[in-house]
Amino acid sequence: MAIAYQGHILFTKQPDRFEIHENGVVIVDEGKILEVLEALPENREGLEIFNMGDRLIVPGFVDLHFHAPQFPNLGLGLDKELLPWLEDYTFPEEAKYSDMEYAESVFTRVAREIWRQGTTRVVLFSSVHKESTELLMSIFDRAGLGAYVGKVNMDRNCPDFLVENTEASIEATRAWLESTKDKYPRVKPLITPRFVPTCTSELMRALGDLAEAYDVPVQTHISENQAEVEWVKELHPESADYTSVYEDHGLLGDRTVLAHCVFNTEAEIAKMAALGVFAAHCPNANYNLASGIMPVRQFLNAGVKVGLGTDVGAGHKVSIASVMSTAIQASKIAWLNSDRTLAPLTTSEAFYLGTKGGGAYFGKVGSFEPGYEFDALVIDDHRLGVTEGRTLEERLQRFLYIGDDRDIVTRFVSGDEILEPSM
Ligand code: GUN
Ligand code: FE
Repeated sequence: MAIAYQGHILFTKQPDRFEIHENGVVIVDEGKILEVLEALPENREGLEIFNMGDRLIVPGFVDLHFHAPQFPNLGLGLDKELLPWLEDYTFPEEAKYSDMEYAESVFTRVAREIWRQGTTRVVLFSSVHKESTELLMSIFDRAGLGAYVGKVNMDRNCPDFLVENTEASIEATRAWLESTKDKYPRVKPLITPRFVPTCTSELMRALGDLAEAYDVPVQTHISENQAEVEWVKELHPESADYTSVYEDHGLLGDRTVLAHCVFNTEAEIAKMAALGVFAAHCPNANYNLASGIMPVRQFLNAGVKVGLGTDVGAGHKVSIASVMSTAIQASKIAWLNSDRTLAPLTTSEAFYLGTKGGGAYFGKVGSFEPGYEFDALVIDDHRLGVTEGRTLEERLQRFLYIGDDRDIVTRFVSGDEILEPSM
């Protein structure tokens, strides 16, 4: 039976403007959008109707970059730059996930917090540990959230307590892909070399082969920090640039998501656009670790597919709404720093990036167009101020800047209402 949800419907089919249906109706069948109407149809036979009243109905948030094992580090060590932060905070924490009890207690809280903040789809890094990565996948499956989850690979330039033997890393990854590829409907594995400095050529090439053989996507980091970029040049003088290192090892394609992209050259940006690579913009993390500002307008102008990432724990907030407002702020600094040539992001553009932009990584996700998955949030914004005299776009804008989980009353993934993960 088809379902009709009545309320104020907002989504971004295109970046440059909101589609807005005041007191509109979204019709959902078998978890997918049939259509959005201005009012209930005359013929309501076989239609179950839910009236959300004076509330906003928007697509669920999509987070393209989140490190589940870094959740206990939220807010810690953010006065450092990337490489010392990895050594002092990140690697010691990630080592703890050989302990399944510890992993379960953290990952349960991660799923709950992601649910709470209105993220309905997320691309996760786990740690190098195969067992706790499988546990993370099962916890997200139980929660009903959509996720890609990656077992991290690294076989050089990291502490003894984390470094993998190359052959063992490849074999563990293969075994993990075998056991999880078709296990869950909404939670899937993806290949996850941490970044070039921690992966040998042999490992990267093998991971590229696995991605192809198992037809799974790829995620990694790129050009986040200047010292990192210099290091990659030293490690791989044979490749034209950082992006080419991934390309030369079979890791770059239209299902690859590259996090950060602060220092990519024009040639790299053009290549990302040509190959259909996704960029994950993580402005909270880029500010915290003093990495820099991703010139997101340059990527959009070049036609690169861009989504948003919280990058927990370099990012200190689990909320993609918070990332949307920081992305707008960062784009304003980029505008000032570019002699006002790189135009700042508008609200609809930031919203697009955090819904349909990142959602494209998951298929037809992040919009309310016909055929899209019904991933949605119902938002009651009355706590945030007077609604009379405010447009629906203003009400959504205000929620993105000053709202939080208290204002999200219902969450759907593929048409299913998702309740708070209990565990
Ligand atoms: N580069 C390599 N590993 C990491 C990580 O864990 N977080 C961030 N922000 N950048 C990285
Ligand atoms: Fe990251």
